[in-house]
Amino acid sequence: MTTTLNWWKGGVIYQIYPRSFMDANGDGIGDLAGITSKLDYVASLGVDAIWLSPIFTSPMKDFGYDVSDYCDIDPMFGTLADFKALIDRAHELGLKVMIDQVISHSADSHPWFEESRQDKTNPKADWYVWSDPKPDGSPPNNWLSIFGGSAWKWDSRRLQYYLHNFLESQPDFNFHNPDVRKAHLENMRFWLDMGVDGFRLDTVNFYFHSEGLEDNPPVLPGEPKTMGAPHDNPYTYQRHVYDLSRPENLDFLKDMRAMMDEYPGTTTVGEIGDDFPLKRMAEYTSGGDKLHMAYTFDFLNKPHAPDYIRDVLKNMQEIVGDGWPCWALSNHDVVRSRTRWGANEDGEAYPLITLALILSLRGSVCLYQGEELGLPEADVPFERIQDPYGIPLWPVFKGRDGCRTPMVWDKSPLGGFSTVEPWLPVSKEQLPLSVAEQEANPDALLHKVRKLIHWRQQQPVLVNGELSQRDVDNAQLIALVREYQGERLLVVLNMTGESQQATVGNDIAAELQGHGFTSSLNGQTLTLPAYQAFFAKLS
Ligand code: NOJ
Repeated sequence: MTTTLNWWKGGVIYQIYPRSFMDANGDGIGDLAGITSKLDYVASLGVDAIWLSPIFTSPMKDFGYDVSDYCDIDPMFGTLADFKALIDRAHELGLKVMIDQVISHSADSHPWFEESRQDKTNPKADWYVWSDPKPDGSPPNNWLSIFGGSAWKWDSRRLQYYLHNFLESQPDFNFHNPDVRKAHLENMRFWLDMGVDGFRLDTVNFYFHSEGLEDNPPVLPGEPKTMGAPHDNPYTYQRHVYDLSRPENLDFLKDMRAMMDEYPGTTTVGEIGDDFPLKRMAEYTSGGDKLHMAYTFDFLNKPHAPDYIRDVLKNMQEIVGDGWPCWALSNHDVVRSRTRWGANEDGEAYPLITLALILSLRGSVCLYQGEELGLPEADVPFERIQDPYGIPLWPVFKGRDGCRTPMVWDKSPLGGFSTVEPWLPVSKEQLPLSVAEQEANPDALLHKVRKLIHWRQQQPVLVNGELSQRDVDNAQLIALVREYQGERLLVVLNMTGESQQATVGNDIAAELQGHGFTSSLNGQTLTLPAYQAFFAKLS
């Protein structure tokens, strides 16, 4: 674990979905005391930080991504004192604590929205995005909600439409109003003063909309649908020119950064959903005066053929420049990577080599709870589905519950997560992969992941270095060179299920050991068994 002020640069962040991590009070839903009780385990992985998905007061219609009090903890999760205890324990263990800030929208039960919707003249009237109907009574424009249908909801009290990019119960803030921006920064300061080390910023490019409310243009026939949403979702039929990624956001992010800089050693990682996410990442993270990092979606959707990976890295290099990505293979919104990417691969070896890939890239890394165990996506039966995103798009898109089921701590029927039936079912298929089972088996994936993360944190070149790609004479292999303070390191990854060979060049100074992978180098010929990696110092 690194203790420098920019620990986040190249750091590994473990994402916890609080509802499903550990239930200490036996109500079937995870909580803060449960998380605190498992922090030793998290620290043992060698990660630098935890990121907690939302823990704030919420009606939970989008499971916390709908906040009704930005400065309090939802009673379901505990109290502010519980959170302080969590921060203190994490800090004792050398873990930084990052929390989710969902400030693009609130819950409709937030007092600010309740006031705003009363009439057109109240003090909060302009805190959300309101508009009159068109002359024919229809919504002001063609903007869509990601969760289905129009992004506009008629409010029969105020007799206007309000904007919601997600659920109807998640009204969007009007960031053109300086009081809104100020209120959000003050709320963030509240958590910084309490000791949090950073924020994951939900939908960070959705803060501003175009005040002209122009229609978004369609994606033209033959052009690719570039928006990161299931492609059967009409949201992907538009180019999102006017409803998000507006230029005004950059100034707000600069104000936010100025505040963050008052708290040395803190960080931000922004979630950017955009037609051109790399361009946006460059805008938002370059220059050192806006976000510290931006989350990439590049490995959260497609399966990774070597060509795809090479393209991602090439684009990243060409477009993002000095910006800083944060890589992830899984999170609480997508099918777990073992099932999405690794369906036809070795269930143990594949999660490790994909992790080795993102740990070898220039950027930081998010590891989603259970990824260290190689958990597959859970199959949640229709009658237990909870996710409101899944309901209107069912059955083509079944929602996000399959990656949100309770963490499996042991192989007992409730996985050691709770003493009562949890809010989402424990996956029976995941039980044999539980923490206890893997701790007891020296050959288990968990030990390999731990070893790899610890090893990688000792390699300054991998944590901080610049990245270039190296041409090798086998297109199945990914070959990278990382460079930092005059040191160069070669990484070669075989992400296939077959042994591969390549000529790696005559500049290898020393093979590196201790990461847990096997390979053999004979002269300049490298042989990599299935799913293995090679690391060497270059002269
Ligand atoms: C992105 C979050 O990751 C997702 O879970 C949530 O539903 C939307 N933003 C809306 O806040």
